[in-house]
Amino acid sequence: MLVTTDPMRAAAAIATGHLAAVPTETVYGLGALANNARAVARIYAVKGRPADHPLIVHVADAVAFGAWGVHIPIYAHALAATFWPGPMTLVVPRSKRAKDFVTGGQDSVAIRVPSHLDMRAVLLELRELTKDSAVGIAAPSANRFGRVSPTSVAHVLDEIGELLLDDDVVLDGGDCAVGVESTIIDCTGPNPRMLRPGAITTQDVELATDLKVTHDSPVRASGTLTSHYSPTATVQLLSAADVAYEVAGAGQGVIGLLALAAVPTPSGVVRLAVPRDAQEYARVLYAALREADALQLESVLAVPPAADGVGVAVIDRLIRAAAGA
Ligand code: TXA
Ligand code: MG
Repeated sequence: MLVTTDPMRAAAAIATGHLAAVPTETVYGLGALANNARAVARIYAVKGRPADHPLIVHVADAVAFGAWGVHIPIYAHALAATFWPGPMTLVVPRSKRAKDFVTGGQDSVAIRVPSHLDMRAVLLELRELTKDSAVGIAAPSANRFGRVSPTSVAHVLDEIGELLLDDDVVLDGGDCAVGVESTIIDCTGPNPRMLRPGAITTQDVELATDLKVTHDSPVRASGTLTSHYSPTATVQLLSAADVAYEVAGAGQGVIGLLALAAVPTPSGVVRLAVPRDAQEYARVLYAALREADALQLESVLAVPPAADGVGVAVIDRLIRAAAGA
């Protein structure tokens, strides 16, 4: 496996049926040519992911979006025009391009136009190499199934480095700017439906479409959570006021604290991050959870940011991390 900063090498690997871990503005993805069944099958094998979990197809622009989807509603086009390239994924009815091995057999397909410059370079080069203007890169987050998404090349190598083969590539595009996965919006109904919160918020979507967003909130359906986004340490959400009380009553193991800078660190506690706002909280969240595991912390106390902007996504991921432990 080659680790490189050259997007052309990643494009060449993908074009020839190999895998490339690729940077995006949200998290790193594990990419393969979206119409190559064997290459896509390797994504599932490396991740240890069940075959019925659909993948996001990354494309270069909104024209390619039209080639992968059919009956795309006007509001989805409005969203594409407003937020792409960027941290938003749209689920639409699939065209014949989107095969069962990418959609997990569903009749819809998830499409995203990422903004990370290296990823864009990979997509544009891949277009040249394949002579296919709508060519897609199928890419889930580049972590093993059920673990937190990687936001740096070091995380990627930790997660899947040993599972990649000689001809696979890891493209180093630096640390991810957003830090949590894209907002996913189901565009198969009359109204946009929020499937996963991210940097693009419900309010953003309502402003861009002039429609009410419906929710299928995993935050509320906490009983149905799978062990997603989970570190080994137990994660507990609490208010800033309860931190000292919780620390005083804790047992033997070392405790980590994840909270905005305004929250002080009680003595004996390992401060995992000191983000100044919700955006920085999102950016450092997964690295902090990995750090907790690297330090073999017993538990992490997490004081969530306010539930607006990307703070909603941070809270969503913290709740999942807490549920999975
Ligand atoms: O930010 C991101 O979205 C990152 C980067 C690499 O683009 N990708 C990512 O992929 O988070 P993944 O596979 O880890 O999460 C994709 C989510 C899964 O929960 C999957 O179930 C959902 O998207 N999804 C994919 N296709 C879908 C579809 N047709 N209908 C509903 N959900 C879908
Ligand atoms: Mg994932």
